[in-house]
Amino acid sequence: MPTVLRHAYRPWGAAKALMNCREPEVLLSGPAGTGKSRAALEKLHAMMLRNSGARGLIVRKTLVSLGSTGLVTWREKVATESIAAGHVVWYGGSQQEAAAYRYSNGSTVVVGGLDKPQKVMSSEYDVIFVQEAIELTIDDWEALLTRLRNGRISFQQLMADCNPAHPTHWLKARVDRGDTVMLHSRHEDNPTLFHEDGTLTVAGRNYIGKLDKLTGVRFHRLRHGRWVAAEGIIYEGWNPAVHLVDRFDIPPDWTRWWSIDFGFTNPFVLQCWAEDGDGRLWLYREIYHSRRLVEDHARQILRLVRRCEECCGSKAADHDCHDCRRCRLVWTEPRPRAVICDHDAEDRATLERHLGLSTSAARKGVSDGIQAVQARQREAGDGRPRLFILRDSLVERDPELEDAKKPCSTAEEVPGYVWDQTPGKPPKETPVKQDDHGCDAMRYMVAQKDLGARPRIRVM
Ligand SMILES: Nc1ncnc2c1ncn2[C@@H]1O[C@H](COP(=O)(O)OP(=O)(O)OP(=O)(O)O)[C@@H](O)[C@H]1O
Ligand SMILES: [Mg+2]
Repeated sequence: MPTVLRHAYRPWGAAKALMNCREPEVLLSGPAGTGKSRAALEKLHAMMLRNSGARGLIVRKTLVSLGSTGLVTWREKVATESIAAGHVVWYGGSQQEAAAYRYSNGSTVVVGGLDKPQKVMSSEYDVIFVQEAIELTIDDWEALLTRLRNGRISFQQLMADCNPAHPTHWLKARVDRGDTVMLHSRHEDNPTLFHEDGTLTVAGRNYIGKLDKLTGVRFHRLRHGRWVAAEGIIYEGWNPAVHLVDRFDIPPDWTRWWSIDFGFTNPFVLQCWAEDGDGRLWLYREIYHSRRLVEDHARQILRLVRRCEECCGSKAADHDCHDCRRCRLVWTEPRPRAVICDHDAEDRATLERHLGLSTSAARKGVSDGIQAVQARQREAGDGRPRLFILRDSLVERDPELEDAKKPCSTAEEVPGYVWDQTPGKPPKETPVKQDDHGCDAMRYMVAQKDLGARPRIRVM
């Protein structure tokens, strides 16, 4: 007799509407933590179980970000019993093939990132779930639509979820045009936050309390699910479709620069920049992490840029080449021409001691620095801007910042980086001093390059 697996999940509100939706494109939009991803994953799993030989895809813009969020819910909440019973087996993938969950009925759920498109785009699917669809470009979306023709299920569907973004985002425009159906997910749809009678659970009180502490545009989007633009955006020319780019091999002869904004309660930010032959700046690595000591950051940084070329041969179980004085460590990339830091003297001294590199103090003029960054974000004569971020630059997401729904990288800060508009203050002069750590480091970098030493004029 086949074993019967029991799985508990009851969808509410928009999650329930998603279960019944057969539209070719459907987007679950809503504030943080309403159960959007869970609903889409539950539907996907149910479709795979019911239709043998079906093919599904779980995809996000970058594979790394998918691993830290979506797949945990999949493993621990959705496919849990099927995995435990051996009906669903993980296949880790290969150089050519994407990783996948394989079902005993012949169905498959491929898991991938659009940063390695050839792996996921070479197959056909019945259903695709895009997590955090805001991160995609319209070209990504349209390319995914062409992959929906496996024909093992009576309908084919592109499902997606997101937190709201700028109201002029292409995805919202797609909804407004009627190409994509939008379902509005609410906190009340999540039974871990709200009881059926509409009162908050204990966990709900904590979670909503946390969201109530958010400010600015993040509050409107993540607490209330509104598609709003920040007022007084500083980097108005910032366009993720232009300024965020996929990784490429950075030529070894490009000059490297590091810029640093110190922090402990607030995140410490290290940005590693490469400068191409035309003077363009490319952010290719970023540490953005709170509650770590400078010396621990220094140790991590050295691990990222050095490898062991000649091991001492120690067989000790706890041997670590990076901590061993007898192993020969070499740099895997050019040393930075300068390590540009904010002015905290003690942190600078600690960092210098542990990195074995000298540092220089950033030019701190806020207004000049911002203008210089704005200028770089605009298109230059050849139609391209002069500053880019490789979208997978972040080394690791800080779970504490993630939990507090704070920005977790410079790219996540920029859309909410706004002028202080307190009445009585001069407009467009000072930024709101919040969630600005990556923006500060970016400003230091650009100021270093573009605001060269100017003659000091003394007025007598
Ligand atoms: N109907 C439900 N029954 C039980 N648990 C649920 C249900 N809906 C959501 N949850 C749980 O609530 C938590 C948050 O859900 P989920 O991660 O899907 O939210 P989200 O809307 O995708 O959040 P974010 O906007 O942060 O991506 C998860 O642990 C999920 O398992
Ligand atoms: Mg989600």
